[in-house]
Amino acid sequence: MGRARALAQVYRHFGEVDAAETSPLYERVAVALSESDEALRAIEAAPARKRHPTVILAALHDLALAGRAPALAAAYAAADGDAADGDAAAGAAIDTLLRMTDSVVAIAVRRRTRTNETGRCAVLYPAIAEAARRVGANAVGLIDVGCSAGLNLNVDRAGITYSNGQSLGDPSSPVQLSSSIVGDRPIPTRAMPEVVARVGVDLDPVDVTDADDARWLRACLWPDQPERVARLEAEMALAATAPPLLLQGDAVEVVHDAFARVPADALPVVTTTWALSHFPLESRLRFLHRLDEAAAGRAVAWVSAEGVGVAPTIPTLGDRRASGHSIIGMAVFDRSALRAEAIGRCWSQGRLLAWLADS
Ligand SMILES: C[S@@+](CC[C@H](N)C(=O)[O-])C[C@H]1O[C@@H](n2cnc3c(N)ncnc32)[C@H](O)[C@@H]1O
Repeated sequence: MGRARALAQVYRHFGEVDAAETSPLYERVAVALSESDEALRAIEAAPARKRHPTVILAALHDLALAGRAPALAAAYAAADGDAADGDAAAGAAIDTLLRMTDSVVAIAVRRRTRTNETGRCAVLYPAIAEAARRVGANAVGLIDVGCSAGLNLNVDRAGITYSNGQSLGDPSSPVQLSSSIVGDRPIPTRAMPEVVARVGVDLDPVDVTDADDARWLRACLWPDQPERVARLEAEMALAATAPPLLLQGDAVEVVHDAFARVPADALPVVTTTWALSHFPLESRLRFLHRLDEAAAGRAVAWVSAEGVGVAPTIPTLGDRRASGHSIIGMAVFDRSALRAEAIGRCWSQGRLLAWLADS
């Protein structure tokens, strides 16, 4: 198969399969891109790993949000699922891509796509509270590794409701999340102790108080998903009221700096959500070793939500790798003795959750 044809198929598949159910707008735009030889040639100006529809569509959306592609912005704003509006938006997207190919490619090269609003906190909250209970901690310092924009660091400041009627967090928070419980085991509804430090670590952190970074987070959402846009806006506004400390660098090198920011009388709780698969295996093991080193002087907890078999030492429960769900792991390093267990499973980044641990 020729390269252009393979790229056309990627765009068609993205439109007809990935976007079809949730975004009629991107379905139409992606299919139109797949059918335009000129558009495909323009996309090929980007390096191969930056040609994916999620990247190119986010770069186009970023130009629209920045006021640099007003016709595209107007077409996206007008699209409400109607086929004619979708065709107009697709035309505007192709036109923008052809006129501003260099800008689209420059954005795609500089940025990574981000999607870290959603249900992660529904998983993290009960797991962090449980880790604190086991260690007997009255205060925690959160260290989110692979933090992207650090939205996980506001886990205690959101309100979370579960499909079985349970709730956690702040019911009056502007950020309200929900998660469906799978199975009949309730989640523990113990409140998290006071959070006294919030530190994010990432190779390339996103600062929600920076206008370009904040616009890029918006650009990564699909324009016709107003609920997700509203939730992201609320999460960014909340984060901006008390921005976390963001440490840039490889987690293996930087995480010890993060531990130093957590007061001695608080339990450092490291969190990783869908981050470790981006680390080579060797780095994952070195990262674990860093946690073990930090635990020489104090208890340390690690809460993870990662694909089956991705987080070292966390049991896989016999589940198959790449089976579409993730394992919620908890490891407590107490005076260098390590207790690691799988405390649950989750799907769709925490939109569905099965709790397994005794608590
Ligand atoms: C798929 S994103 C996950 C982001 C977020 N935790 C979430 O739940 O959506 C992976 C993140 O890990 C970061 N990352 C990858 N390798 C890293 C490393 N060695 N050290 C620190 N961060 C890393 C990337 O920059 C990216 O922001």
